[in-house]
Amino acid sequence: MVRKTLFCIIALMLMFGASFTVAQDSELSLRALAERDNFYVGAAVYTTHLNDPIHVETLAREFNMLTPEQQAKHCELEARQGQFDFRGFDRLVAFAEEHNMAIHGHALVWHSCTPQWVENGDYTRDEAIGLLRDSIMTIVGRYKGRIPIWDVVNEGITDSGAALRDTPWRRLIGDDYIELAFQFAHEADPDALLFYNDYGTEGINPKSDAVYELVSDFVARGIPIHGVGLQSHFTIGGFDANQIARNVERLGELGLQVQFTEVDIRHSGEATDNILQRQAGDYYRLMDVCLANDACTAFITWGVTDKYTWLRGANLGFYNNPSVQPLLFDDNYQPKPAYFAALDSLARKVGETPVLSDDELTAMIGGTAQTVEIPPQIGRAH
Ligand code: XIL
Repeated sequence: MVRKTLFCIIALMLMFGASFTVAQDSELSLRALAERDNFYVGAAVYTTHLNDPIHVETLAREFNMLTPEQQAKHCELEARQGQFDFRGFDRLVAFAEEHNMAIHGHALVWHSCTPQWVENGDYTRDEAIGLLRDSIMTIVGRYKGRIPIWDVVNEGITDSGAALRDTPWRRLIGDDYIELAFQFAHEADPDALLFYNDYGTEGINPKSDAVYELVSDFVARGIPIHGVGLQSHFTIGGFDANQIARNVERLGELGLQVQFTEVDIRHSGEATDNILQRQAGDYYRLMDVCLANDACTAFITWGVTDKYTWLRGANLGFYNNPSVQPLLFDDNYQPKPAYFAALDSLARKVGETPVLSDDELTAMIGGTAQTVEIPPQIGRAH
């Protein structure tokens, strides 16, 4: 019955290309299904989104993990050395706790959000190590026992995979700034799971090989690392699910967790019905890859509603598309075909009645060959 109703809704949406109120079965949500499988479905959130009641309702109903989209980054928390402003982050943590959601902390070290005083600082290596430790101890220490996962270093490898990225902390400290950051985070909260997070590293390619080497070396030398985040900012048709599965597998074999940390699936031009269908197929494939391997513990979308996607930001140059609809919920918080695809993948995993029939699913995921894409700019466009 539920399945039939949902199919009718999708069919109507496709026929009329319209969004309208969907009477949703309150039992059936991404979150409810995920919780039956010890799995996390997450979304990136700004504090300002919490002022929007529909956003709050959708977030709490559908997701059991929250990533601060901006408010937990170092440049936001410590714009002036030693003067921390935790107001925004505290609000997100309080919201998550009130709604029984886990927090995925993001990100302690990221070249695009390193405070000016570090960028312009003239410190010796030892001084810089002390400053990095102070910042991480203060931030991670404040939420000790309350934030189970931290992205410790974000985007530390060049796009070719040939070297570590030239970043402010690396200039001051040297290549070992990455392992030092992991050690300090572990010291601040020994129970937190510590992740290395990056983009263009989802499939098998020179950059994901470089991540694999970095984290293998950490594991071998006992540097505290527990997981790898695959950002997953894709274009429709822009990934090879089999390759991602192989990458998840090799990371899992190291004893590491994997999370898809910043999923969105963009397109150029207007979001036609055909685009939304193909996007749904991609969401299904991606969710399926994650659910197929126990090492993959979370599927996090980079926002809840298309209305607030960072991809509509004017600062993204080539990627800027004011009409882009890359997420699971449309501008009016109505679930899109992509939502039902993700829901169906989860339903099948937990043995719940599928949301889509096998025929509908086959039509949605099609049989088209996929190609690998490494987004050349995403993540460093600002
Ligand atoms: C982005 C946010 O979405 C934007 O709102 C902000 O202006 C810049 O950062 N990779 C990452 C995220 O790891 O932190 C980025 O988030 C998107 C790319």
